[in-house]
Amino acid sequence: MSLGDRLRDAGQGHLAEALDRLQGPAHDHLRAEIEALDLPLVTRLVEELRAGGGAHDLGEIAPPAPETLIALPRDDADREREARARTAGEDLLRAGGVAAVLLAGGQGTRLGFDGPKGLFPFAPISGRTLFAHHAAKIAALRTRYATDLPWYVLTSPQNDDATRAAFEEAGWFGLDPASVRLVVQGTLPAVDRATGRILLERPDRLALSPDGHGGLLSALRRSGALDEMAAAGIRTMFTFQVDNPLARVCRPEFLGHHFLEAADMSSVVVRKVGPEEKMGVIARIDGRAGVVEYSDLPDELAQQRDDDGELVYWAGSIAVHCVDVAFAQTLTRGGLDLPYHHALKKVPHVDADGRPVEPDAPNAIKFETFLFDALPAAERTVTVEAAREDEFSPIKNAEGADSPATARRDLNRLYARWLTAAGVAVPSGPDGEPVDLEIDPRRALDAAELNASVTPDLRIDGPTVLGPLEG
Ligand code: UD1
Repeated sequence: MSLGDRLRDAGQGHLAEALDRLQGPAHDHLRAEIEALDLPLVTRLVEELRAGGGAHDLGEIAPPAPETLIALPRDDADREREARARTAGEDLLRAGGVAAVLLAGGQGTRLGFDGPKGLFPFAPISGRTLFAHHAAKIAALRTRYATDLPWYVLTSPQNDDATRAAFEEAGWFGLDPASVRLVVQGTLPAVDRATGRILLERPDRLALSPDGHGGLLSALRRSGALDEMAAAGIRTMFTFQVDNPLARVCRPEFLGHHFLEAADMSSVVVRKVGPEEKMGVIARIDGRAGVVEYSDLPDELAQQRDDDGELVYWAGSIAVHCVDVAFAQTLTRGGLDLPYHHALKKVPHVDADGRPVEPDAPNAIKFETFLFDALPAAERTVTVEAAREDEFSPIKNAEGADSPATARRDLNRLYARWLTAAGVAVPSGPDGEPVDLEIDPRRALDAAELNASVTPDLRIDGPTVLGPLEG
């Protein structure tokens, strides 16, 4: 069947017409994009959209199974368990059993930053980028555990070139380029919400966007990265998001709990600050562990409280997971079947005559799969609670909650706590908050490491950077 017929069959005949209107390189470009589409998948998604209108059916939601939860240590028994986990996690790191996987394929539209979010210069004094900060953690972990710790970075066709160029320009942040691998995720087209027609961003270009971070698993399989990990004896991937400068990359306690529980996939949670906070929550969905995304959690459940007045759905996912390589291999064998979520968005496009349309209301549906939707397939899983102030302050919005300002404040507070614990006084600024502080992860990854590296003559009189820093 010709491409035109296939398009018409799929209800996308307008793309055949768009192709007919073009010549030369513009024609070839659009044709290549159309040929790369998974047309049967798009057709199925559009049919589902027409039939249901909303996102996939979630199923019955209940609080997470208590036996899968590991709360913050409260007593000696908890602390002993934590210490055992730490040892197991450190052993795993030293043995080269872990790879770090950074999710950085998103578009970061809410932040309004042009370019890959990892290039956002979040650091208050040095202006260091998120990528550089995470890279310094990788370098520090490699030194601390005398291990290779390969680093995989998920990009998308929309930001791969810019990400690669930035890593190259930064000399791969001092890491061996062979030890860092950028893996490109797939894309899906945005469709008109009313007609299901695939939108054109320009006369010769489809409106494509990343297929959601669930695309990680297929991208790892397609690129050979999963096989590469298995061959290198890597047992577990530690996955984290680019937008959280506080992420405790490869925290041994979390790795250890995951390992000791023989889990396939595990999660880190913090207590939600309130029912409205935009975090997915760990829950039971039709009896299996999973994450209910904030947009899918019915308000009455989000508001529900127990007898102590605590939120029943308190376990906010910070999108940090351990995913076993063997589990990912099983999941992706013969194609991965994660549910598709629908996002209603404003997508600028061109009409049938090639004229630009700037919608003033959401006009299009984007389809995305989420990594955490692999959780229900796990035979065993563990959810580990972390202290929010130590591990989570994401940069999502330009202002207000979850913004550069709140992330800087929380980093300053974190570093001030480390310094105070090491006996170093930290002055406050006029707002009563600690002065701006930066501690390079290669100087210290945690309070104990900082304590060991602080000299008695260290005085903090104003904004301070504790290096090494460069790059
Ligand atoms: C996300 C989680 C939410 C969690 C919160 C914690 C999702 C869908 N929701 O919300 O449950 O509580 O973080 O901060 O993840 N990304 C890709 N490829 C894509 C799309 C996204 O790599 O196709 C990456 C982004 O670069 C980013 C991360 O995934 O690092 C988060 O994506 P985003 O869409 O911003 O999710 P949030 O709404 O912030």
